Amino acid sequence: MQNLVEQPVGIIGGTGLMALEGLQITGERSTANAWGIPSSVLTSGLLGQQNVLFLARHGNPHRIPPHQINYRANVQALFDAGVRTLVGVNAVGGIHPDMGPAHIVIPDQLIDYTWGRSGTFFEGELDNVTHIDFTWPYNESARAILIEQAERLGLSFSSHGVYGATQGPRLETAAEVRRMERDGCDLAGMTGMPEAALAAELGMRYVSLCLVVNYAAGKTDTAITMADIQRAIDDGMVAVKTLLKDSVAG
Ligand code: HPA
Repeated sequence: MQNLVEQPVGIIGGTGLMALEGLQITGERSTANAWGIPSSVLTSGLLGQQNVLFLARHGNPHRIPPHQINYRANVQALFDAGVRTLVGVNAVGGIHPDMGPAHIVIPDQLIDYTWGRSGTFFEGELDNVTHIDFTWPYNESARAILIEQAERLGLSFSSHGVYGATQGPRLETAAEVRRMERDGCDLAGMTGMPEAALAAELGMRYVSLCLVVNYAAGKTDTAITMADIQRAIDDGMVAVKTLLKDSVAG
């Protein structure tokens, strides 16, 4: 993400990341576009020498559930503000045994199980129908930067993984997680889609930075509690912020 100083890097913060410390804030703007009102204001600032635009996916304070986020308004607002490289930060459940609480994953693939979300810019009065290529949903060069910095920082992380996007807001059943595992999913999260596809439709370089906040349903003997999730957020978000800062600021 270096060498893009003049173009702002966009960061969409998820659960546990509603603001970015270390960001020297230079402004805030409320935006609306043809798709509606984004989840939060766009906060502009500098991370090192790099211009950054930050948006809180669930609003600030956290009030919009995953299935009611206006993903189109969010992605369009960042695009309109000049963002061409976009990092989506996602709290997820770990399905793969190596992906336990506070582990970081930079996924390379996804499977979409969500339904009923407005997931494309290509609808309404169109001149022609567009089918974007989505073979590789995450941008490889942006992924490489995150991976290099995660290695340098010595973080507990995985450089690959399949993100399974679920509808929420409830967590999954154990059988749903077993099915996802059979499908090849390593992670379960509620906000990865349609964000990734919308960014791709606008030709943006999109990457997801996932923090595992619990083992997915059925992967441990106990129920998943919000207190456990909060503890993993507290444990892991410091590393996520450091990784973001070092990757973006160069
Ligand atoms: N499933 C789906 N989304 C999540 C989870 C989970 O277990 N944990 C955090 N986000």
